[in-house]
Amino acid sequence: MKIFLDTANRELIKKWIPTGLIDGVTTNPSHMSKEGSDTKAVLRDICDMVQGPVSIEVIEKKPEAVYEQAKEIAKFAPNVVVKIPCLPEYMPIIHRLVQEGVKLNITLVFSEIQALLVAKLGVTYISPFVGRLDDIGLEGSNLIDELVIIKQNYNFSSQILAASIRTVYHWHRAAVAGADVVTLPPAVLEQGMKHPLTDRGVELFDNDWKKLNKPTLW
Ligand code: E4P
Repeated sequence: MKIFLDTANRELIKKWIPTGLIDGVTTNPSHMSKEGSDTKAVLRDICDMVQGPVSIEVIEKKPEAVYEQAKEIAKFAPNVVVKIPCLPEYMPIIHRLVQEGVKLNITLVFSEIQALLVAKLGVTYISPFVGRLDDIGLEGSNLIDELVIIKQNYNFSSQILAASIRTVYHWHRAAVAGADVVTLPPAVLEQGMKHPLTDRGVELFDNDWKKLNKPTLW
């Protein structure tokens, strides 16, 4: 499973890269709004820092303007992936961009059929939003389960990128389902590394060792 960081915060990205676990980054306008107005510098630094794909979302609305902006974003850095919301009016431009070799991450995907349609167009990543489905009383993780089956049924090449991950359990479910990628808020990544029994075990071993009254190992 590839792990992307779901943030535009350079300090947090810098903090987690040395773990060797980070395969890419996803940004969105909400993340960007927290990082100040020099958006170009923020995105430049992120693209330079990260070895793998960095998703940058379009902010234009009209399809032709989205198309032009997607082309511009695609030229920004070799590792850029253009994020476009899953809307009916964007299907023709998504098709054109894929034909032209632009790597796309289709975002704000909430149903199996939305995902099937953009998979059929050959986009690189599809981002189903797990947490936001939970927010409206549904079981967001079920969408990931079904997308994995749909991908296998039709041998689609698009990668399923589990997004809107709020808990380690969302991540766990995405991994069991077989999502290709998960994008994690840094706090969820850190939480996933921990277990209370690990902390307790370290404490117990430490206490037992102290009974030896020997500060060195040998
Ligand atoms: C990722 O690509 C999305 O922008 C992100 O996961 C959204 O998460 P949220 O629903 O917690 O805002």
